[in-house]
Amino acid sequence: MTDLQFRRHRRLRKTNSIRKMVQETQIHASDLIYPLFVTEGTNEKNEVASMPGVFQLSLDLVDAEIDEVVSLGIPAIMLFGVPNHKDDVGTSAYHDHGIVQKAIRQIKQHYPDVTIIADTCLCQYTDHGHCGVIENGQVLNDPSLSLLAKTAVSQAEAGADIIAPSNMMDGFVAAIRHGLDEAGFEDIPIMSYAVKYSSAFYGPFRDAAHSSPKFGDRKTYQMDPANRLEALREAESDIEEGADMLIVKPALSYLDIIREVKDFSGMPIVAYNVSGEYSMVKAASQNGWIDEKAIVLEKMISMKRAGADLILTYHAKDVARWISNS
Ligand code: PBG
Repeated sequence: MTDLQFRRHRRLRKTNSIRKMVQETQIHASDLIYPLFVTEGTNEKNEVASMPGVFQLSLDLVDAEIDEVVSLGIPAIMLFGVPNHKDDVGTSAYHDHGIVQKAIRQIKQHYPDVTIIADTCLCQYTDHGHCGVIENGQVLNDPSLSLLAKTAVSQAEAGADIIAPSNMMDGFVAAIRHGLDEAGFEDIPIMSYAVKYSSAFYGPFRDAAHSSPKFGDRKTYQMDPANRLEALREAESDIEEGADMLIVKPALSYLDIIREVKDFSGMPIVAYNVSGEYSMVKAASQNGWIDEKAIVLEKMISMKRAGADLILTYHAKDVARWISNS
């Protein structure tokens, strides 16, 4: 063999210790953001049928959940409201006593160190289930902006640390930045869902949040999965309008987009490991077809390797538990 010239890559794979020394990507609990669905009433703990292990929780049960999140070292939660009242302009999204505003106040009071990220959208709050105002069957862009800014300001007033607008109207970051600044919240960052595809992977979330559109789809405002350059234009607009961090969503079928947006922007990037991505793993592991822990940890590493700084995932508690024991 002495005449043969080749490189021995296996030298660095020989022991667990050496493999760890040369490992390029790590996942930490501090990379994780845990999504939480809050609902009205008391003693409500409703498991989402298509998302085993994910619950809609009423506020009296939320503290126990946050206790667990904190003890696992997860620094941040993303709040989604499941309101009782819906109407055509999404009033309970920006009501001072809306479900999200109440949740923020309670969590801030009991857990001042947890970073509370508020999802800012209208679709859970509108009776038609679209993310903006409707006229003649069309989702109107500009009239939706003032409602989003109002929602963001009311979330900031309640104590949200970060505003995360997800509705994909053009100019939403500018409108929200302007609204926050005018209300004296110039220090509140915007984590914008800058690159959000019109994806079938959101199906289980819409069960969880009761936010399916009652007619049509979201293709006039969310992006076509076939488009790559458009992602860079969307990212560029949001940066110009004042976004502080960018979300790419979904994550796993879009790892190429995460990498490109990271390289193009240099901004902190959040990968949203969405509901359908979670449900597929859960279903397969419940059938005994895959090794859930190994698959989930591999997915987390893949998103970070692709360029994500943070990962928003329904697996967050499990991941934090697994990596602390490894
Ligand atoms: C609201 C919103 C959605 C998700 C996050 N925020 C649904 C949608 O756009 O229909 C999806 C998240 C997931 O699937 O986990 N606009």
